[in-house]
Amino acid sequence: MKAIVYTEFGPPDVLHLKEVEKPAPKDNEILVRVHATPVSYGDMTARNFKNISSRKFHMPLPLLFATRMVFGFNKPKINVLGSEFAGEVEAIGKDVIRFKAGDQVMGYLGQRMGAYAEYLCMPEDGSVAKKPSNMTYAEAATVPYGAIMATSLLRKGNIQSGQKVLVNGASGGIGSAAVQLAKHYGAEVTGVCGTQRLDFVKALGADKVIDYTKEDFTQNGEAYDLIFDILGKSSFAQSKRSLTATGRILYASFKTKHLLQMLWTSLFGSQKVICAMASEKSEDLVFVKEQVEAGKFHTIVDRCYPMERAAEAHRYAESGQKRGFVVITMG
Ligand SMILES: NC(=O)c1ccc[n+]([C@@H]2O[C@H](COP(=O)([O-])OP(=O)(O)OC[C@H]3O[C@@H](n4cnc5c(N)ncnc54)[C@H](OP(=O)(O)O)[C@@H]3O)[C@@H](O)[C@H]2O)c1
Repeated sequence: MKAIVYTEFGPPDVLHLKEVEKPAPKDNEILVRVHATPVSYGDMTARNFKNISSRKFHMPLPLLFATRMVFGFNKPKINVLGSEFAGEVEAIGKDVIRFKAGDQVMGYLGQRMGAYAEYLCMPEDGSVAKKPSNMTYAEAATVPYGAIMATSLLRKGNIQSGQKVLVNGASGGIGSAAVQLAKHYGAEVTGVCGTQRLDFVKALGADKVIDYTKEDFTQNGEAYDLIFDILGKSSFAQSKRSLTATGRILYASFKTKHLLQMLWTSLFGSQKVICAMASEKSEDLVFVKEQVEAGKFHTIVDRCYPMERAAEAHRYAESGQKRGFVVITMG
């Protein structure tokens, strides 16, 4: 089968189309013929991991070491990127009961990666669900990562109906799902993103949008019950004035200082800092599939690139020009 392989860290040109061995499903696994996979934040970070400094890594230092153990220090240990996909089940292992050949599915592989290929195998009890019937493969491929992360993290942020919620980083993988899920919970949602993607975030259903290149949300006099900061761009000290008296700031990306603030605010004061890791549950993916089919969860694909133009897809995704998701299509 064909796969997009990289054997050294670096710019998009390290990605090459190669022939590799087609995987075979184990007894509990499904074999998926991949139709589409998006270019995600994780793909671009992993591709260039050697050059990601501790400052650019949005998590505590020990996690940088742990992630380097997974992705490699000087050379990539994982040679095929791609953490989410949509495709068709081609074959199943003998113990599989949830899926059958011919099922259209979408799924999330996490740090295992491997979706930049014509075929992949994954356990049937992994983060995989049937594809929403009203989405193309390219659209469905953009759903799993953001949906799983946002569903899990918003729950950890204890989101409630009627709350005012601000999503800082609303145009990205997690943020675009968070905007829509927060609306589902009955929140009034403000999305913060760059100029190019304001229309995208409005189209997702945000009640208000703020362009972070022109306005600092901590200075606008508004107070939110929950600030969901995807890249950890806003400090707690500055954001305090943008939180209600019992408001919470939820960091998807956090450093050790945020963990200390979480500890401190768990003991003192009524405004809280929450640093949370998402848990991957296939039920969350099934829930989002239902939201998509009910017309309550959307995605916007900006451009699709065939496998052989994967480097171009990465260059465009990194250019700052994209207005929705960038997707690589197979076959
Ligand atoms: N806690 C967890 O369990 C967990 C799980 C997965 C990932 N993560 C973390 O989530 C992060 C990746 O999230 P993602 O995949 O959603 O990333 P992404 O798709 O690259 O999106 C990043 C978002 O941040 C916005 N942004 C960039 N600069 C900003 C600024 N100065 N102020 C405000 N917003 C800004 C971008 O806006 P524009 O594009 O419009 O400029 C975009 O909306 C990583 O740091 C990763 O470590 C955490």
